[in-house]
Amino acid sequence: MPTVTVIGSGYVGLTTAACLAELGHRVRATDRDEGRIERLAGGHCPIVEESLPNLIEKGLQTGRLSFSTDNSDAVRQSEFVFLCLPTPQGADGTADLSAVMSVAAEIRPALKCDAVLVMKSTVPIGTSRRVGQILGETRVRYVSNPEFFREGMAVDDFFNPDRIVIGADDANAQLLVSELYRGIECPRVMTDCTSAETIKYASNAFLATKISFINDISQICDLADADIDAVSDGMGFDARIGSSFLKPGPGWGGSCFPKDSQALVATSRSLGFRFALLESAIQSNLDHQQRVVHKVLDQLSGSSNVQVAVWGLTFKAGTDDLRDSPALAIALDLASKGIEVAAFDPAVSHNAQLPIWGMLKRCTSVHETLSGSSAVVVLTEWPEFRQVDPISVAGSMTSGSIVDARNILDAEKWRSAGFDYVGIGRK
Ligand code: UGA
Repeated sequence: MPTVTVIGSGYVGLTTAACLAELGHRVRATDRDEGRIERLAGGHCPIVEESLPNLIEKGLQTGRLSFSTDNSDAVRQSEFVFLCLPTPQGADGTADLSAVMSVAAEIRPALKCDAVLVMKSTVPIGTSRRVGQILGETRVRYVSNPEFFREGMAVDDFFNPDRIVIGADDANAQLLVSELYRGIECPRVMTDCTSAETIKYASNAFLATKISFINDISQICDLADADIDAVSDGMGFDARIGSSFLKPGPGWGGSCFPKDSQALVATSRSLGFRFALLESAIQSNLDHQQRVVHKVLDQLSGSSNVQVAVWGLTFKAGTDDLRDSPALAIALDLASKGIEVAAFDPAVSHNAQLPIWGMLKRCTSVHETLSGSSAVVVLTEWPEFRQVDPISVAGSMTSGSIVDARNILDAEKWRSAGFDYVGIGRK
């Protein structure tokens, strides 16, 4: 079995490392954060990700998965080196490649002469050429293998992907990487590096645009008294449209869509093309978040000296990730207007150290958010929010308004319990 090094033990790197170990490979995952590596080596998974803790434990027990802070040492023994490093948004909107470039330069002298360097990070179109310059005259082969897993579903997405994209100039390296995924049944898109990089950005930009589209349609539903649930269903049965990513919400967020869509706009601009459609989808997403804020303000009839119960702060359910979360942005916007925001999120409320608790009142249960609140706003689709019984809730509040920005509650049930229920594009 070949040996694999995965550099970067964040959401993508850790999932990649643990899943490759599960496939039978010997994998060493590295990170410069010593505390993180120490915890991982002790079997503690530092992120909320379904099934990942079990895979890490199993990998450690079988000896197929190990952790280290020494990139060069790990790389020296590896046939494959995966780069899973952050590419945060730079000042001009483009992805900042400095972590990727400095690690590529750091490991270059230690790479085996016939190693395959696999890029998993989301990197700007054309990055393969820049990394190629760093690799220079070495015989190391470069492969672009973007990831498509969703946070919270990452392990399942790894083993059941819609496709695996492998971009390379070297057909042999392409096949070797394809072999690493042996046993996983799905179409394999074999292409060049630049096309693989473009597939990643185009996919995220398309999905973000699809959500902006349905959020804008939900606004039409609100204004025309149509029902977005029926509209989404009616559209989604058309196989050319498809039913996924047609669910309105408080806007799209997370560590990928906002950053990647801005980066694609910036890349397009640098290529001399104005990607007006995507620019519009980004603006629509910001406008939509404001619409949710206004729905809440409307429920408060103009008074700001009140408390609002906020259910959910993460950018979606199944994760503790607050990066670019529309839920958090909406909660903070309400707080900036002088409203007391009593917030509960099952994945983050236990962490009293988070700086957000300087601005929001930290509650450790749904029920704690209600006492003294005039309205509830549901911002993350955590399943436990569906279970809340409106009758048991009504007595704790000063008045009964609820804005369901995820359309997860049974509107009739809440209305029957006396609540003024408002959804997103719901009749
Ligand atoms: C996204 C992509 O779905 C993955 O394929 C990709 O690999 C990943 O980015 C990445 O580039 O690393 P993720 O950020 O985990 O995955 O989140 P999604 O599940 O795609 O959701 C993104 C946002 O869209 C969330 O804010 C979610 O609440 C929102 N959303 C999603 C909707 O509002 N409606 C929908 O119907 C679907």
